Parts: sequence; structure tokens; C-alpha cells
Amino acid sequence: MRSKVTVVGAGNVGATTAQRIADKGYADVALIDIVEGLPQGKALDMLSAGPIVGSDADVFGTNDYGDTSGSDVVVITAGIARKPGMSRDDLLLTNMKIVGSVTEQVVKASPDAILIVVSNPLDAMVQHAYALSGFPRERVIGMAGILDTARFRTFLSQELETSVTNISAYVLGGHGDSMVPLIGSTTVGGVPVASLIEAGRLEEIVQRTRNGGAEIVSLLKTGSAYYAPSAAIVQMVEAILFDTKEILPCAALLNGEYDIEGLYAGVPVKLGADGIEEIIEVDLTPSEAAALRSSADSVQELIDIMAANS
Ligand code: LAC
Repeated sequence: MRSKVTVVGAGNVGATTAQRIADKGYADVALIDIVEGLPQGKALDMLSAGPIVGSDADVFGTNDYGDTSGSDVVVITAGIARKPGMSRDDLLLTNMKIVGSVTEQVVKASPDAILIVVSNPLDAMVQHAYALSGFPRERVIGMAGILDTARFRTFLSQELETSVTNISAYVLGGHGDSMVPLIGSTTVGGVPVASLIEAGRLEEIVQRTRNGGAEIVSLLKTGSAYYAPSAAIVQMVEAILFDTKEILPCAALLNGEYDIEGLYAGVPVKLGADGIEEIIEVDLTPSEAAALRSSADSVQELIDIMAANS
């Protein structure tokens, strides 16, 4: 039997995620949205691509959480996206209500699922979903670090005219201005990046990475990125469904790791069939540790705002 993945939200991120999974054929996909007809129409279109791409996956759209029952993985993309000039934090109170209601319904329908939260502001939304789900931390994971790391690797590969596959990097911390690229452990074909790109230029590339989502928002004008975000989500889905135990940067609840207690932050985790199977503690320089701490503090600030408004 194929696995079942539910994607909540039939907007650009959700639909592109569903399409990537459906095309590969290893899981049936339920696409759910509150807008009537939207998930059904997009899913039928994807299903009809099956004979062409050689996929027998069942893809269906629904407005009823009952149809998502028994999912192995649930990806939550629901919420509004940024418009030019907005920060991810501007979405907080609107998306808090949406993600809260979605979480309650998916948990009821799929009590054993692993949740991947994608809605922004990411770190606060995954913390909110975790709190409402009653799931163990292993099964509530946020997607951001893979995307931020991919942007960093992309810009480094352009700078050095080197294959992206040769660039090994981690961007940790929050999905926002507080993201923490680990320069010391970024290598290009095994060579430390700091010996290949001078410090000022490297800082520009780090800034472009931090601003990577906003750069796309300002170009699109009507929404935010979705091709790279959906690719990042699917990498997490695959690690879980195929139990690969791949180590990937994801938002995870820290219970003392990195000296952070009870808050989500982007850190390397081992992903497998049980979700987060291990939190990997890499050595950080004092300034990287401080940046990770301040990124967790900014999650706490958003949590306090949510608490005051609930
Ligand atoms: C981005 C949005 C999805 O970084 O947060 O593009």
C-alpha cells in the first residue's frame, strides 16, 4: 500500500508540494483547502498527469478533514503569504488562527501522523501547532533550514562557478532576519569557504540569503516563493517515508539542546520514520551560539504576542 500524505492549503506552496509528491508516485496525496473546488480542480489536473509521468498515485482534493484520515505525513501550508513590504511576523495573528484550527482538525483525523509545518512566521507557527497537537516533539517539525541553506548554497555556487552539489553548508536559527549561516563549517569541495571568498563579499552573500524570501516577494509582488520551499518539504517527506535518517536543518523543539529550553529553533536533525530521531549538536562559535539564542528569543516574543491575543 502506498503511504498517504495530506497537504493542507492548495495555494502555490501546497499545490506544488502535492504535485512533486504525486509525480514521484510513492504516496497518495490528499490536497485540502477551505475554498470549494480549488483543491479538487488542482488535484484532478495532477491526477491526469499520472499517465504521462508514469505515476499511479491517487491525488484527490477535498474540503473535508475526514478524507485526510490515516495520513502518515501532514504538511501544513495554510495561511496568508507576504505581500511586498511585509515581514513574516506581520502574518502572525492571522496565520495563528488558521494554523491552530488546521492543527486541531488534522490531529483528529490522523493521530499518528508526522506534522511538517510550513506557514509563516515559521518558528512561531510550528511552536503553536506543537502546543495544540499534543504530539511528541519528534512528530512536529518546521520547514525552513533546508530552504535557507539551499538559497545560501545557490548563491555560493554562482559566486564560485561550482556545482551546488559540492557546497556543504548549514543555515540554522530562525526563518527570518535571525537566521544563522555557519560559515566555519561551510565548505566547497571540502575547502572552507572563508578561504575562497573574502569576508566582505561573504557577508553580502549571507545578507542575500537572509533576504532570499523577501527578494522573491518583491519580484512576484503577489505572493511568496514556492518552488524551492516545496522542494525542501519533499526532501523532508522522503526522509520520513523512506526512513533515510538524513541529517537536515529543520525547526525542532529544543529541550536543553544548544542551551535552549522549550522553544523551536532551526538545528540539524536526523529525520526518519519516527520523525525527528536525533537532534545533532554541532559546535558553534560564541557568536553563532548567541545568534541562535537571540533567534529563539524572537520566537518567544512572538509566542507572547500570540498568548496575549488568544
Ligand atoms: C520564503 C518564505 C516561504 O522564505 O518564507 O520564501
